[in-house]
Amino acid sequence: MTVADAVSLDRADSLAFARKRFRLPAGTVYLDGNSLGALPVATAERLRATVEDQWGNDLISGWTKHGWIDVPKRVAAKLAPIVGAQPNELLIADSTSVCLFKLLGAAVRARPDRRVILTDARNFPTDTYVAQGLAEMLGLELRAVAAAELAAAVSDEVAVVTLSHVDYRSGARNDIAAINLSAHAAGALTVWDLSHSAGALELALDGTGCDLAVGCCYKYLNGGPGAPAFLFVAERLQAELQPPLQGWMGHAEPFAFDSEYRPGAGIVRFLTGTPSILALAALEAGLDTFEGVSMTDLEAKSAALSQLFIDEVEARCGDEVQLASPRDADARGSHVSFAHANGYAVMRALIARGVIGDFRAPDLTRFGFAPLYTSFVEVVRAAEVLAEIITDRSWDRPQFAERLSVT
Ligand SMILES: Cc1ncc(COP(=O)(O)O)c(C=O)c1O
Repeated sequence: MTVADAVSLDRADSLAFARKRFRLPAGTVYLDGNSLGALPVATAERLRATVEDQWGNDLISGWTKHGWIDVPKRVAAKLAPIVGAQPNELLIADSTSVCLFKLLGAAVRARPDRRVILTDARNFPTDTYVAQGLAEMLGLELRAVAAAELAAAVSDEVAVVTLSHVDYRSGARNDIAAINLSAHAAGALTVWDLSHSAGALELALDGTGCDLAVGCCYKYLNGGPGAPAFLFVAERLQAELQPPLQGWMGHAEPFAFDSEYRPGAGIVRFLTGTPSILALAALEAGLDTFEGVSMTDLEAKSAALSQLFIDEVEARCGDEVQLASPRDADARGSHVSFAHANGYAVMRALIARGVIGDFRAPDLTRFGFAPLYTSFVEVVRAAEVLAEIITDRSWDRPQFAERLSVT
């Protein structure tokens, strides 16, 4: 496909309006929205108003005057249509790792006669570390199996099954409904990590029988670097589950300053400490970029962008790179990885040419397609530059071999 052909795809794109909601640097093809979403145009003013008008003028009365105390729930309500949940099933809090600890802890506490946490052996490392720590602390077993074997591995020893919806390396998608069904048939709970799908794929957390879930808000949800995470607890489980991190913000009456912990009613008991109002202001601007966007259309565009990239890279680079993601769009998320023996240097060379993706060891060049703002022209341009770098071996320079601290 030529860049001119891609222009017509962009003209026909029913989501093209959303790109205007982002500030994207000229001359850059940004294919890393799966790691850090682009900056929404509205974020700077939202932060300024929160800092200067609210905090600056109203000081501590902001907690009531501007409703800061309810912001974790109010912002979570904006996430509800994006992930297919009810507003009272979501909260914004902490980081993904901490939210995962809270939900895994609550899940094992609800199944005291079961000794196993079952996980995907190739889950994102922080998820594994959190589960390892919890298992060691409580004398449980962390059992890790291949994602494809998880459904069959659930037994009556298993308290909880935890895995990512979309694999951070390959982009392979796990079947939420099928794994929930198997887990429930064996009496286990599930905790999903939706970091690589929320905001890019059409999710139906209630419709697919999810119990618990967490996810990053700084990727496709555009909340900004280090944005707080989200957690989901199905309404049917909220009264039964007890969070392991009992903080005052999850207490039934935080300002009663009671010395005994009494969990708040509903999702609020999963709060721990004081919410970060500035971070939540930025996240709200990020979630507002989804206004008027159909998640069905968004997922369709994600599939079209990633398919075009696979086709263009394979046509231009031949077997110099190997597809490391599922070929079938229904089986993958919104990023695509290609393996190359010198993948790190190739990615550094791409970034030097203005095409930003990232690298995952040992050899994966990874490209994310954020359907709210990535264009078809950019996809073709990225494939074109990748082919040039591979053909002229411009990746083979000392400055591209040197490892940076963040890849
Ligand atoms: C699947 C997944 N889970 C969790 C995290 C990180 O979570 P945290 O917000 O705790 O840094 C990442 C970061 O890239 C991720 O890809």
